[in-house]
Amino acid sequence: MTYHFPKPKSRTEAQVDFRQPTKEDGSEVWKLVAACPPLDQNSMYMNVVQCDHFADTCVIAERDGKMLGWISGHIPPESSDTLFIWQVAVHSDARGLGLGKKMLRELVARDTCRNVRQMETTITRSNEASWGLFRSFARDMNGKLSDAPHYECEAHLDGRHATEHLVTISLPRKALRMVA
Ligand SMILES: CC(C)(COP(=O)(O)OP(=O)(O)OC[C@H]1O[C@@H](n2cnc3c(N)ncnc32)[C@H](O)[C@@H]1OP(=O)(O)O)[C@@H](O)C(=O)NCCC(=O)NCCS
Repeated sequence: MTYHFPKPKSRTEAQVDFRQPTKEDGSEVWKLVAACPPLDQNSMYMNVVQCDHFADTCVIAERDGKMLGWISGHIPPESSDTLFIWQVAVHSDARGLGLGKKMLRELVARDTCRNVRQMETTITRSNEASWGLFRSFARDMNGKLSDAPHYECEAHLDGRHATEHLVTISLPRKALRMVA
């Protein structure tokens, strides 16, 4: 899918293409994630496997062949109505232009997500950019957003990582039809 930003104010607002990753993208994804704190850095191998096995629920945003954005997601094996978003990364040169939200819309519009009725993600309390992104997406989709502690600092994360709150956004059929 190709989007054209309406009134380009700068080069970063020029044409951005959205596509599924291939295993050739894994190392570049790894570099983009590394450049986007506070995201956790996983192994390059993991990003290669993610690009290879979960391409249907991952998206790359690029302009002139340069990777500007990445979302990894999957449909959990026992929740076929749920798209779980793992990481969202937008290069610092391209933030604030709506790219994060456009990538989320691109994913829910895919045929793979035809049975999806809700989006889930986890967010630490301090990640304001992530809360801003998902609240804004929920508003656009007329979805209801709820959250609750899920992967907890002491109980699950060995005291080494802040508690991750599970955020659930309902995706009304009408809104899904509009993005498809
Ligand atoms: C979070 C991130 C992906 C947002 O990408 P983006 O393309 O700039 O986001 P968008 O332009 O689509 O903005 C969507 C909404 O989020 C809000 N938002 C974006 N950055 C924000 C910030 N730093 N603080 C508060 N709100 C923010 C925007 O205001 C917008 O809301 P609005 O529609 O009400 O104006 C990007 O800042 C990033 O890569 N951060 C580092 C990695 C990270 O924290 N990822 C999220 C965790 S998975």
